[in-house]
Parts: sequence; structure tokens; C-alpha cells
Amino acid sequence: MINVAFVCLGNICRSPMAELVFKNILKEKNLLQKFNVSSFATSSYEVGNPIYPPAKRTLEKYGVSGNHISQQLTLSNVVCNDYILVMDSENLSDVLYLTGGKYSEKVFKLLHFTGENRDVADPWYTRNFEKTYQDIVNGCNAFLSFVLNGK
Ligand code: 4NP
Repeated sequence: MINVAFVCLGNICRSPMAELVFKNILKEKNLLQKFNVSSFATSSYEVGNPIYPPAKRTLEKYGVSGNHISQQLTLSNVVCNDYILVMDSENLSDVLYLTGGKYSEKVFKLLHFTGENRDVADPWYTRNFEKTYQDIVNGCNAFLSFVLNGK
């Protein structure tokens, strides 16, 4: 079993989108049983809240279904996962602050695997959920290719 946790600030837009997109890709490739996929917030701001409606609508537009309730990342979540895939540089710093700098070998920005290493577009201020969705699809496909083929 490969344990993957997606992480963003609030866990209501980017990381639950990534969790559901990645699960959808795994389902299409008949690989769901090989992975345990979850998502978390670095903050407590939105804990207990569902996926933000515009993010949910964007997923549904592309046939990606599922639900999620925001939960805050703990040190034990980092320990228990093989990959912590964050959306931006601030998430990366926040995760490493939580771990006291430990486990950095399993923490990656999602778009690292595309070769770009920039941040996933943050829709909270831009309202551009399409751009976020496309970044996430590209990142998830590149990550899966890395895990399966080492590249
Ligand atoms: P997310 O989006 O980190 O992609 O879930 C945000 C959600 C909430 C806030 C910021 C970003 N907030 O400031 O409450």
C-alpha cells in the first residue's frame, strides 16, 4: 500500500480537489486498491467544513465525484504517509515547521513531478478553479508516473 496525503492551507479547495482527482485517475487505471489517499489542512480555519462549492462544481463538471470534510494535518499523519504532496511553498514551510524539519524527504510540491516545481494555482483569491483543476490533473498524472515508473 502506498499512502499519499495531499495538503493545502484550508483543505476545502486545492487538496480535496487533488485527493478526488487522484482517486479518479487510480480508479480509471484499476489501481485504487494499491493506494491510500487522503488530504489535510495546514491550518484549523476550515476544519469540519465540506469542499468549497465552486471547487466541487468544477470537479463535477469533469465527472469527478466524492466528498471530503476538512481536517488539520498532525505529525502522526506525516509519519504514517509515504508522500506528503503540498500545493505551494507556504504549505511546504508549514509542514516542515510541524515536523521540526524531519521527514522532508517525503514532502513535495505537487508540480515538482511535472518538472515545473511552481505552486498549484490558488483559486481562493483568483476564483480561477479551472486553472487549479488543470494544474492538479497534470500534477497527479506526473506523480503517478513517478511512483509507477520512477520518472
Ligand atoms: P485551500 O483554499 O487552501 O485550497 O483549501 C483556502 C481555503 C480557505 C482559506 C484560504 C485558502 N482561508 O483563508 O480561510
